[in-house]
Parts: sequence; C-alpha cells; structure tokens
Amino acid sequence: GTVAPFTLSFRTPPVLNPVRSDSTTDYYQIRMQKGQVDILPGRTTEVWGYNGIFPGPIIKQRANRVSTVRFINNLDVNTCVHLHGMTSSPQYDGYTLDFISPGYYKDYVYPNSRAANFWYHDHGLAQTARNVYMGLAGMYIVQDDQELALPLPKGNYDIPLIIQDRQFASDNSLIFDNRNQTSVMGDTIVVNGVPWPRMEVANRKYRFRVLNASSSRSYGLALSTGDALTVIGTDGGLMSAPVNTQNIRLAPAERYDLIIDFSRYPLGTQVELQNLPLPNNLVFANTDKIMRFDVVRSETDDSVVPSTLRNIQSIPESSAVRTRDFTVQQRADGVWAINGNGWDRNRVDANPQLEDVEIWTFRNTANLSFHPMHLHLIDARILDRNGQPPFPYEVGLKDVFYVGENETVRVIGRFRPFAGKFMYHCHNMVHEDRDMMSQFQVGQGGI
Ligand code: C2O
Ligand code: CU
Repeated sequence: GTVAPFTLSFRTPPVLNPVRSDSTTDYYQIRMQKGQVDILPGRTTEVWGYNGIFPGPIIKQRANRVSTVRFINNLDVNTCVHLHGMTSSPQYDGYTLDFISPGYYKDYVYPNSRAANFWYHDHGLAQTARNVYMGLAGMYIVQDDQELALPLPKGNYDIPLIIQDRQFASDNSLIFDNRNQTSVMGDTIVVNGVPWPRMEVANRKYRFRVLNASSSRSYGLALSTGDALTVIGTDGGLMSAPVNTQNIRLAPAERYDLIIDFSRYPLGTQVELQNLPLPNNLVFANTDKIMRFDVVRSETDDSVVPSTLRNIQSIPESSAVRTRDFTVQQRADGVWAINGNGWDRNRVDANPQLEDVEIWTFRNTANLSFHPMHLHLIDARILDRNGQPPFPYEVGLKDVFYVGENETVRVIGRFRPFAGKFMYHCHNMVHEDRDMMSQFQVGQGGI
C-alpha cells in the first residue's frame, strides 16, 4: 500500500503514565506484543510494538528520579531491551544476549542521571534489525530543572519527531528484507508512525526532538524554504549554544533537538521538511520528503532561544591516556567487521579503567557505506573528521558518530560512571546484526 505525501495528519505517540511512584522512583510497565495499527489508509498493519503500538509510548522522566520499567514479553520471539544513551549499569543495559523469553519479563532500572533525548529499542543478537523494523522502538525523554527553566518552547510546542522508513506490501503488511546483508530501506517515510504527515502549526517557534529510528537510512534534513534550522541539542542533551545550519546529516540512532521558527512565514505557507540525498541511501519516488508544516494560525510567542544553553565541560585532548584505532569495513566474506573481526562474546577489544579518557578513531576506508558508530555507556565528543573540525551542529555531546564514506572520525570520551562490559557497534542495524559489533570492558570488574 501507499499514500500521497502530506495527506495524513501528524500525531505524537502517547506519553506513558507510571503504574505507581514513590519518593525516588517511577514504576512503568510495557508489554511487547503484536498490535494492529493504522499506518496506511485501508487495512491495518500488524506490528510488534511496545504496548502494541507503533512507535512505542514516550516515557518522560525528571532527571535524577529513578525509572523502573517492567518489560513483559508477550511476543513469540526472544526480545532484549536497550535504552540507548542512558548511563545504565551492565545488567540493565540490554546486553545483546540478555534475552527476555516469550512469557517472561525483566525489570530495568534507569538512573536518569542527565537530561537528554534517549530511545529504547530491541538489541537481540542478529535480530535487532528485524525486531526494531517490526516496531520495537520508542522515545524516552529526560528533563532537568535547568532545562525546564530555560525559556524554550514547551508543552504543545515541544514535539517528538521519530523518523523511520518502511516498505509495505499491497495488503499494508510490513515487508522486512535484509537479504542483501547491507541495508533495509523502505520507500515510505514515516514520522511518529504516520507516512509523510502534515502538521498544522502556529506562526511561532517550535522545538522538535528528532530521532532517526530507521534501520539503515540516513537523512539530510533541510527546510524547503532554505531557511536555517536552529540546533539546540545533540544525542547527549543541550549544546552549550545554539547553532544555525542549512542542513543536518542524520544517521540511524542520532538525535538532534531543533528549533524551527514559523513566525517568518505568512499564514498559508507550507514548509516541507526535506530529505536531501546522501550517499548509499536507496532513492524512491518520495524519499526526498519527510513531512510538511502548514502555518495555519497566528499566536503570540514568548519563547526565546537563549544564546547560552548550558555549560559543557570539554575534555582537553591532552587528558587522553590512550588512543585506539578501529577500521570499519566489509570483509570479503560479507561480514561487516571492526578491525577485521566479527562479533565474539568472548572477545573484549578495549579495557579502559574507570574515569580514563580515551580517543577512539573510526576509519571507514571505503565508499561502500556509511557507519553510524555507537558506544554504550558514555557521551563523547567529535574531535575531528578527516582532520577537519566536526560540523558546527555536532559539537555537542554524542553517542553516535556519523562515519561517512572515506571518513576518519576521532572522538574523545571519559569511561564512566560504571565498570563492566558494554557494547559498541555500527547502528546500521543490518551491519550490527552481521556483525559490526563488539565490546569494551571498563575497569577490572564487570559482568
Ligand atoms: Cu541504539 Cu547498542 O544501540
Ligand atoms: Cu555500518
């Protein structure tokens, strides 16, 4: 099935209420189950969803309150839940072999130690691409007092945008095909589960929390008017200062927090969020479009984008105690490898001590693919790409690094706050499954 772009109404996923709360903790419960959802006109689509919906419900949490989330597996496949970006201790980090069998549940404890946009998704070994594609992904937002005190757009003007691509059969069922072992890319762009939605907006500023939850596709975000997007946050939370940019390269699992100011446009203006072409992405008739904003009403706007958003302590390069090199490449046998290696649960590639600062270099020596490299546990910053400064909009804290075609990206980070074994991998989920994924162990202890 298909639909013409900008004909379906924009919506946002529901916010999940805790089942109970006490002085320190909010307790949530999510069932992983099949659901029949409306995506395209006509017949419903079966998904594997958190609470049976697509995408899953949004969890909104205050920093430093603890969340305990009971994930119940009511599917007939094993699942594994990872809260991407959270500084979770190893037993709650969704280690790729830490499966929840059908009929079982696991309680995950998340400290919410900092404000940022996170997302939860399946992480089962060699089945992440399929399980996330079938629907197992949702957003998780943590806000702290400092962020809430800023005069940024709030409430109805603070909007999640979860961007994915899908392929549908004529009966509207999802088609998952990873047989090429390189990528899964659909012809339909969905935002918050709606194909190319149309959102009615007021002529004022909005904040958009953008997440690319696609399996393999990257997007070149830009406005059809040519006006700038104002980036206020990256994967790891607010930047120190806003950055205006004409376009953003957004790989799977990356998050950007944006302000779009619609007060520039007369009522009646239609502003498209476009997808400019990036290498190694499959192009279909409408994959150059993401959604449309229709400026339909006038409203006053007392929100302001402050010139200072927060103070981020930058780690000087000189404090790094070691550097490590990772070449990310496809092997002759088809395996997407890191330094020539595939996944091995018994191999640890790096053993930083707790609080060590290290520089990791990711080298993509081919033009065959881009690799969004992701480290669990830590936030890091990009030092340079091919010896040049990172794009101005990606200077904030990040946990996913776009390693484009023939690019070498150096990142610096401090390995804390937990010892133990954590994964790092490419977030093209087809690569991750086969099997551009490995692990590091912080400190002597570990799982
Ligand atoms: Cu988004 Cu290892 O995950
Ligand atoms: Cu990759």
